Amino acid sequence: MERTTQVPHSDIERQLEHCRAIAALTAQWPEQPLAFVDTYGCQQNEADSERIRGYLRQMGFGFTQEEERARIIVINTCAIREHAEQRVLGNVGALVHVKRRHPEQLICLCGCMVQQPQVAEKIRQSYRHVDLVFGPHALWKFPEMIHSLLLHRGRVFQTPDEAGSIAEGIPVVRQDRVKAWVSIMYGCNNFCTYCIVPYVRGRERSRKPEDILREVEKLVRDGYKDITLLGQNVNSYGKDLAEPMDFADLLEQVNAIPGDFLIRFMTSHPKDATQKLFETMARCEKVAPVLHLPFQAGNDRVLKAMNRRHTIAQYLDKIRALKALIPDIVLTSDIIVGFPGETTEEFEDTLRVLEEVRFDALFTFIFSPRAGTPAASMDDPMPREEKLRNFNRLTALQDQISEEKHRAYVGQTVRCLLDGLSDDSRWDLTARTPGNRLVRVVGDRGALGQFRDVRITDANKWSLFGELV
Ligand code: SAH
Ligand code: SF4
Ligand code: F3S
Repeated sequence: MERTTQVPHSDIERQLEHCRAIAALTAQWPEQPLAFVDTYGCQQNEADSERIRGYLRQMGFGFTQEEERARIIVINTCAIREHAEQRVLGNVGALVHVKRRHPEQLICLCGCMVQQPQVAEKIRQSYRHVDLVFGPHALWKFPEMIHSLLLHRGRVFQTPDEAGSIAEGIPVVRQDRVKAWVSIMYGCNNFCTYCIVPYVRGRERSRKPEDILREVEKLVRDGYKDITLLGQNVNSYGKDLAEPMDFADLLEQVNAIPGDFLIRFMTSHPKDATQKLFETMARCEKVAPVLHLPFQAGNDRVLKAMNRRHTIAQYLDKIRALKALIPDIVLTSDIIVGFPGETTEEFEDTLRVLEEVRFDALFTFIFSPRAGTPAASMDDPMPREEKLRNFNRLTALQDQISEEKHRAYVGQTVRCLLDGLSDDSRWDLTARTPGNRLVRVVGDRGALGQFRDVRITDANKWSLFGELV
């Protein structure tokens, strides 16, 4: 495999110089300028937005959630389904009016959606109030692009089509004090036939283990308790490193970092999830007993058409092996209903997998054609109503299973991480079980950020309820 290209440190240093130059400008403005960063899509995008905020802070910006008060608006977009794109375009369209009232405002669109050439072109033509458009590959140059816009106005478009690089040393401003995302790799090589990600995020490339370990060590020192390692397919971590290592080895090394914290990771591709990984999960006490292992569809013909490169029998074997090692493992999956050509009979195989595995929760989607992917041009004869009917059968079955699995917690005392304050007055805090199930908790709000025993008193299909012991 080709070696990963790393953005030279001197190039990042140059971006930080742009930040300092902008900070010198903004320091002379009558008040501290504010930025509004809005994020769509997956955790990878959340992690990218934290880097954009990091740069913005170095430029002297504070943050707001109100578009009207923002000098810079950044919308970090997602392209995974049409619905995600429609929402973004609707919101961007509405910003015309805000900008009319605040002509000095800079409106920036970034992320996966604008990395698609036809979308960038549409923004260029029809959304003329957007000043800056940049794709995931250009994120590390954000300061230089903003600097140019502050000095010269005009519009900047940076959506180079490339395999992608790795940029270390970008500052971050994290959104949470308890939970943190750590990207361990970027991009995807799998080209599942429905999926846009490989086209917009480039090829798989792994951060060096020492950079990841240093970041996690710092997070633990800063008091973070719940660390999620991110990648589109974490199980192929390390294949492109000069000294190849695999994801299980990395987990082992993260687990060896001293401190009281939990390690999670996502996403795992079933074809690359190994017995070694399962054994490592079972052995490493900080690795949470939870695995998100998307199988997408329960029928082998459909899986083949999706280019998932495993069969359902292989999937179920892996689940059995994992359950043998970690009996209380919490399992989740993504599922697509209505892939082109999937018959209702084939869809029913998906229901059978649900009954066999009994996932704790699912993320379910109706197929959405993405321009440029092979599935977008496949024959798709099933009417929308039938897809919806199947979708509803799927969620009804899963609701029932989720509720039964949640009910089994009632009466137990579980060591949970108190990860948030409740916005509903019936509870004081929110918490997560080690398997990441949501618990609404009555008790001392001062416990926020701690691991504490919670007695589970009730449950429904969405969450558990309990009280601090
Ligand atoms: N890398 C992860 C998934 C990232 S996208 C993996 O391989 O599991 C998250 C989920 O979105 C996918 O698992 C899939 O279920 C869903 N998805 C992706 N493309 C889609 C499309 N075109 N239509 C509907 N759902 C899609
Ligand atoms: Fe998309 Fe497949 Fe890559 Fe996941 S593994 S990001 S579904 S192409
Ligand atoms: Fe969306 Fe890009 Fe993530 S397409 S799901 S934000 S990788």
